[in-house]
Amino acid sequence: MYTSAQQKEIYTQSKAFLTQELTKEDIGNLRDVIKYHEWKYGVESAPVIADYEYDQLYKKLEALEAAYPELIAPDSPTQRVTSDISSDHKTVPHIVPMLSLANSYNGEDLKDFDRQIRKLTGLSEDAEIAYCVEPKFDGGSIALVYENDLLVRAATRGNGVKGEEMTANARTMSSIPLRADFSSLGIHKVELRGEAIIRKEDFDKINDRRSAEGLPLFANPRNAATGGLRTKDPLETKKRGIQAFIFQTGHVVDADGQDRMDVMKNHNHSIDTLGTLGFKVPTVEKKLCNGIEEAIAFCAGWEAKRERYNYEIDGMVVKVNDYALQQQCGSTGHHPRWAIAYKFKAKQATTTLLNVEFQIGKIGSITPVAKVDPVALAGVTVSSISMHNEEFITSKDLRIGDKVVIERAGDVIPYIVKSLEDLRDGNEKKVVFPSQCPSCATDLIKEESEAAWRCINPHCPAQLLQKMAFHVSKDAMDIDGFGRSYVERFLELGWLKDISDVYNLDFTAISQLEGFGKRSAENLQQAIATAKKNPISRLLHSLSIHHLGKKASKIIAEHIGHVLELTEWDVERLIAIKDIGPVVAENVVSFFSADENIELLRRMESYGVNLEQTDEDKPLEIAEDAPLVGKTILFTGKLTQVNRKEAQTLAAELGAKNISAVSSNLDILVVGEKAGSKLKKAEALGTVEIMTEAEFLVLVQE
Ligand code: IVH
Repeated sequence: MYTSAQQKEIYTQSKAFLTQELTKEDIGNLRDVIKYHEWKYGVESAPVIADYEYDQLYKKLEALEAAYPELIAPDSPTQRVTSDISSDHKTVPHIVPMLSLANSYNGEDLKDFDRQIRKLTGLSEDAEIAYCVEPKFDGGSIALVYENDLLVRAATRGNGVKGEEMTANARTMSSIPLRADFSSLGIHKVELRGEAIIRKEDFDKINDRRSAEGLPLFANPRNAATGGLRTKDPLETKKRGIQAFIFQTGHVVDADGQDRMDVMKNHNHSIDTLGTLGFKVPTVEKKLCNGIEEAIAFCAGWEAKRERYNYEIDGMVVKVNDYALQQQCGSTGHHPRWAIAYKFKAKQATTTLLNVEFQIGKIGSITPVAKVDPVALAGVTVSSISMHNEEFITSKDLRIGDKVVIERAGDVIPYIVKSLEDLRDGNEKKVVFPSQCPSCATDLIKEESEAAWRCINPHCPAQLLQKMAFHVSKDAMDIDGFGRSYVERFLELGWLKDISDVYNLDFTAISQLEGFGKRSAENLQQAIATAKKNPISRLLHSLSIHHLGKKASKIIAEHIGHVLELTEWDVERLIAIKDIGPVVAENVVSFFSADENIELLRRMESYGVNLEQTDEDKPLEIAEDAPLVGKTILFTGKLTQVNRKEAQTLAAELGAKNISAVSSNLDILVVGEKAGSKLKKAEALGTVEIMTEAEFLVLVQE
């Protein structure tokens, strides 16, 4: 259908369209581009741009066509609701057309939606509107017809007006009742809408099975589900473990053919009713929200926890709960006006791999870093992506010039999923891994147990910079305001030869540097003075000892009175400590047996850096029956009676674990003044115990 060269050209054009202002002259090309992506997505099941990007292109076309209605062509992508009908399946009309949904991407969009609802229904600004909010399942939609309590027909969505009959397949799905007691409700015939979807873990099993049978693998659960609905072999449908979530009642009539939507009362009630009749419905997932703010918070809560959910969801659906209000809102030919999809930020995007740079870490590990054409991904612009090590590049056969799919799941840093080989034009170049350190030209080595190549020159300038930058960073000595740029500058001036020099800087000279003043030099001096008093756990971590992380540093600090005591410790003594392993132990012993390291620490001590165990280093004694043992806690907002650090220490003393984000793992949220999004999120989750600062302090006192 398309040659590689054409595909590549269209891809480039798509990216340009995404960023450009488009004019009426672009309509024809834009349509062709969208048609291509529909073909990639719908026919080939191999999309080359993210859904979010596709939506943007589609929206641009819609806007242009709205401005120039005379240019709307009957074959425009906007003139059809995407179809999955293939000619060899029997098509059946839906009783009521299955519409699509309009999209929104943030809280502001949802507030616009709320204003629109008020306009359509004549409700005033302060009238309360109840919205039922539920996940937007990412599978294939289906319509089920029940007559006289029996499942008489199942169909895919098709083009929205007609779908493909697939009753035999649906009958194999255990989540779809073959009989349901609608007659007890006075309902004779009903059409239900839902989404056929596969659990993430079942999806992995399906691919395992296919791989064992030598069959091609599915890219995602959605493809496995939609394919499974349309297969001619109902047993294959059954094998895939497809489940149907019912999310809508389309049509309800009694024996006289009279509309009986009233039986279902409202959307929320209809879902619960269907649940009691034996259907799989999002009972625990949904929430009836009072007002749009609550709906927005609920959506945000789900966006944060979507990775941990069993099913793939690509957003939430916000629906006006009341049927009478829904009626007043009505529908366009494309979507109901009373519902809207809230799309999560795209987890995937495609871009071009422009170059690979090799970074030298603080202990000399070489990390290949992909430089890519900057692209928006899940709320941030990505231009550099770690490629971990050589094996990562070779196993994925990544080449410079490749179009690549990148992903950012949850809070995870972005990574390269794969290259799009179909889009190669032959000019892509293999990545050549260096054999010598890019900074000091020392031959690189790779130990058997490690994945990374390393430069083992202890005086390698690049390593020195990384070590220094890490030493002063938030994670290590936490010297406020001492950023990487200062490190680079002071290194260049020859003021920093090793980390001890950080504590012996000449602040008069610094205040005379360009861009500095007396004030910033004083601030830096103050921050360094504060850091000198740090607990030794920080100091140990800041030394860049291979594999010695924050946690192990803390544990070791609990066991020593003075850092230099470690010169007398051997591996056995260290591994006798719980949670200290042999690798860390060996590296610590090796560090503390090198004279130059001991001299370094002595020098630091002579400049006033604390090397003695502080109270903060000492192990916390927590009684087994402490009131918050096993609980997680988070403080938000401005605390008025204790500062946040003290509050966290108090909580830890009561046995709680301080965590940093609101998620379903959070047990207690302590709110101070002006608590904002964290409070809203916690409320939306509904599982978090919320207490005020005063209540928390009462608990402490008790
Ligand atoms: S309501 C008339 N609710 O999203 C309203 N749709 O982009 C129709 N979807 O074709 C849809 N989860 O297949 C609705 N909880 C949910 C949904 C949902 C997934 C799908 C559905 C629809 C598509 C629209």
